[in-house]
Amino acid sequence: SRIIFSGIQPTGIPHLGNYFGALVNWVKLQDAAAPHDKLLFSVVGWHALTLPQDPKALFEARTTMIALLLASGIDHRRSIVFHQDEVQNHTELAWILSCITPIGKLKRMTTWKSRLAVSRNANDESEVDDSLLNAGLFTYPILQAADILAYRATHVPVGEDQQQHLELTRDLAETFNRTYPSPTPLFKLPELMLTPSKRILSLRDSTVKMSKSAADPNSRILLTDSYETIAKRVRSAVTDSISGITFDPVERPGTSNLLMILSACTGETPAALAERYANSNHGALKKDVVEAVEEALRKPRAEFSRLCGEKAFLEQVARDGAQKAQEQSNETLKEVRMRVGLDYQP
Ligand code: TYM
Repeated sequence: SRIIFSGIQPTGIPHLGNYFGALVNWVKLQDAAAPHDKLLFSVVGWHALTLPQDPKALFEARTTMIALLLASGIDHRRSIVFHQDEVQNHTELAWILSCITPIGKLKRMTTWKSRLAVSRNANDESEVDDSLLNAGLFTYPILQAADILAYRATHVPVGEDQQQHLELTRDLAETFNRTYPSPTPLFKLPELMLTPSKRILSLRDSTVKMSKSAADPNSRILLTDSYETIAKRVRSAVTDSISGITFDPVERPGTSNLLMILSACTGETPAALAERYANSNHGALKKDVVEAVEEALRKPRAEFSRLCGEKAFLEQVARDGAQKAQEQSNETLKEVRMRVGLDYQP
């Protein structure tokens, strides 16, 4: 049986990248799961703290994210939906894993390297100064590994930007098994699960992924955006001046991104769509993308606004979820403590 685990940060409303790259995949896995499969979807508050957050806004965003997961089709009776920060096992395991993680591995994480790049003066060729960056940003991937390994997850559905973190998780699982050998290795190596929409690009700059933190709000479409906003943002999406439509992510990233989004909405492959639009133009393609995105978001958007009025229910779901997650991970932590020598085994 499979144990499927994934997480999302409570930092604002998810965009199409989060939705098609992760959430939709979670729902598909849930709906196709065998009776013995376990599914856990976590709102990762501790990860959000690696960047400055307004406490009140963060507190609200945590509940909002629970509502958004349910609105996207996660069923709390089938999947365990919970706040990472309400299950102490994650931080306890993160500490133990940090004691077997070489600093060099963390330094190679692209997310860390891009933080360094941002903090560095662009014209300054001298040694990068990391002394002011917080340690949480640096050790963040260890916490992510702990999230996954606390449940001994077998499958992790995420977007492409999380691939390197999963590789580190597998690495740490192996290191733990090797460091604390036993006839039955504790951790299985979790598998990465990517969707075809593993990397949705910014609508304003095809060299970067769509992200919550980009300064230009027109670069993304949020799960809760109105039809008018969707139309405006798709219409202003950067494409190219080549006539006709082809699917060519390298030479025509903007155009291909629109095909990818349309594909995520309709289920047809980008290649098949490109063939259909071959003799068409960007205007016609964009018009259909607007309608398809609106169609895809209509239901989750309406369900989200309904759930926003059900605070007590959302809190109950999170409470039940945390309790189940706690139970699920207790056994792993007991084993871990025993293997490292912190717990006596009679
Ligand atoms: P987060 O909150 O940044 O993103 C949530 C999910 O959305 C995916 N994603 C994208 N997919 C396609 N195109 C994009 N433009 C795009 N942008 C984001 C991400 O890959 C992710 O799957 N560190 C994680 C959260 C986390 C986690 C975990 C995930 C913490 N612990 C354990 C899996 C397992 C993060 O910051 O995701």
